[in-house]
Amino acid sequence: MNPATSEQPATDTVDLSVQVGPLHLSNPLMTASGTAGLGLEMEPFFDLAEAGAIVVKTLTKAPRHGNPMPRLVETPSGLLNSIGLPNKGIDHFIEQVLPRLAGHASCLVINIAGTCTGEFGELASKLDGLPGVDGLELNISCPNVEGGDLPFGRDPDVVHRLVGDVRSATALPIITKLTPNVSDIAAVAKAAEDGGSDAVSLINTLLGMAVDWRTGRPGLGTVVGGLSGPAIKPVALRMVWEVSRSVAIPVVGIGGITSADDVLEFLCAGATAVQVGTTHYRTPDAIPRLAAELSRLLAEEGRTSARDVIGSMRTG
Ligand SMILES: Cc1cc2nc3c(=O)[nH]c(=O)nc-3n(C[C@H](O)[C@H](O)[C@H](O)COP(=O)(O)O)c2cc1C
Repeated sequence: MNPATSEQPATDTVDLSVQVGPLHLSNPLMTASGTAGLGLEMEPFFDLAEAGAIVVKTLTKAPRHGNPMPRLVETPSGLLNSIGLPNKGIDHFIEQVLPRLAGHASCLVINIAGTCTGEFGELASKLDGLPGVDGLELNISCPNVEGGDLPFGRDPDVVHRLVGDVRSATALPIITKLTPNVSDIAAVAKAAEDGGSDAVSLINTLLGMAVDWRTGRPGLGTVVGGLSGPAIKPVALRMVWEVSRSVAIPVVGIGGITSADDVLEFLCAGATAVQVGTTHYRTPDAIPRLAAELSRLLAEEGRTSARDVIGSMRTG
């Protein structure tokens, strides 16, 4: 529609709400795990209830110190990280953080990672039924100690079993977060769906590295790390499109989102919601800014609902 016409709907009549499986989100914008702390750190920048969902950084059973320094390197349009999931452990979160966080977000998703498949189920049962917890996101990009240190998320059979374990441990909605470092991400998504996942989110970071040829030193303490930011958006879009054609459960798109146009591109390619990550380091109040911009762009095009854009890409 021509933005100049009087038929253009008002910004406040645009419905941004979406449904990610059992989770009702007031808008499609979630924080991406690891880029918004445990949620409370973002409160100086925006009211957590303005996000469709807050996803906390990965929690593990035992406390972790994280990886050796340096942990971050900037690359053209991207960020390489090798943080190593530092956290004080799930029990500390449940006892010390959750009571302060519960009720602040309109939807709170807890991201968990185990060191073996059984540990995911153990973590899920600890969180099951806790006030303020609305859903789980499974970070299956971390190394599987049982499986020769390969990430769980590379093997569809392992993913099927892991998600099945979590499904039998909790009634909470499950979002399985997929790694892009595989040859067939749709096969892994299908395994998650068959295991009982309510949704999949993708992508986690792409493996990458940086090196200083003058000093002969790698940029990251672990040499290899994960690439995020605008540089990965085309890869993420392609994977979201492939996965959304292969599974019936909702897909949450992640990767390089900095603008409302980016958000709508992910929705058009098949995502039901998105997560906003690296852009938080430049714009910590990105979520409310993107929400306002989404309403404006949709109104300009005469759209009344963000849901109309989901999967609207036409090929041929
Ligand atoms: C510094 C940093 C830390 C991250 N930590 C986690 C984490 O703890 N758990 C997780 O599942 N993903 C983690 N991620 C991956 C992001 O959630 C996201 O999948 C990825 O960065 C791609 O999105 P983006 O390009 O919008 O950042 C981290 C990313 C960054 C940049």
